Amino acid sequence: MTYKDQIDMSRLPGHVAVIMDGNGRWAHRRGRERVFGHHEGVKAVRKTVEASAELGVRYLTLYAFSTENWNRPDDEVSALMDLMIESINNETGTLVEKSISLRVIGDLSRLSEKVRNRLFETMKITSQGSRMTLVVALSYSSRWEISEACRRIAVEVREGRMRPDQIDEHTVSTFLTTSDIPDPELMIRTSGEKRISNFLLWQLAYTELYFTKKLWPDFGKEDFYKAVADFQKRERRYGKTSEQIAENS
Ligand code: IPE
Ligand code: IPE
Ligand code: MG
Repeated sequence: MTYKDQIDMSRLPGHVAVIMDGNGRWAHRRGRERVFGHHEGVKAVRKTVEASAELGVRYLTLYAFSTENWNRPDDEVSALMDLMIESINNETGTLVEKSISLRVIGDLSRLSEKVRNRLFETMKITSQGSRMTLVVALSYSSRWEISEACRRIAVEVREGRMRPDQIDEHTVSTFLTTSDIPDPELMIRTSGEKRISNFLLWQLAYTELYFTKKLWPDFGKEDFYKAVADFQKRERRYGKTSEQIAENS
């Protein structure tokens, strides 16, 4: 039985987030430059997007480049940016065809105008896609996002549009870049690292975490299905007891 056959289609995670990690190590193991791994990683992106859309997952968020990744060597950063443009150019048609809309979250002010314009254009072209939203976290970090939200809430208070006692969890959520996106139900990280690396810290509060040793370029559709099948075996208690969960199901 394949992992896909094990999936209960009536209990799919509505939102899956992925930390695509391990491209550099994948390339090094083959005696190649890190950038080769990033190129191969694009194929895994395609497979994961396809697998999610085919299953019926509504939101897929991919961590493509963190705020901290700006500190990598210049040639790697510029290769990643070129790869971003190349992939978007190659995939826009497929996204439209498959009714997938693209969203980008992150500090886009740090991107070059060329990359930024290309992203905005693609978001516009794909905006009618209703099957799945592909959220790409680019120049993103959660601490950046939360600080940004704090700054904007402070302005609302200063301008008299909001009182401090009105600020609750819901308010904070609405000031995040993901305000109109449900929290991820499943978060996958490849490459064996077991950390969050500044990704969606607020949104992952009750997300099920799944770690696999597979390096990102080796991650295929069956690996994605395996993660979803594993997710479906878990009991999500949200602070309650197992008995309470059983009573309500
Ligand atoms: C993930 O792979 C891609 C990005 C972070 C852009 P890495 O480049 O981090 O690969 P490793 O972790 O060094 O193997
Ligand atoms: C996390 O991977 C960021 C992305 C996958 C884009 P890193 O490779 O940058 O994370 P650390 O440095 O190992 O925590
Ligand atoms: Mg890494």
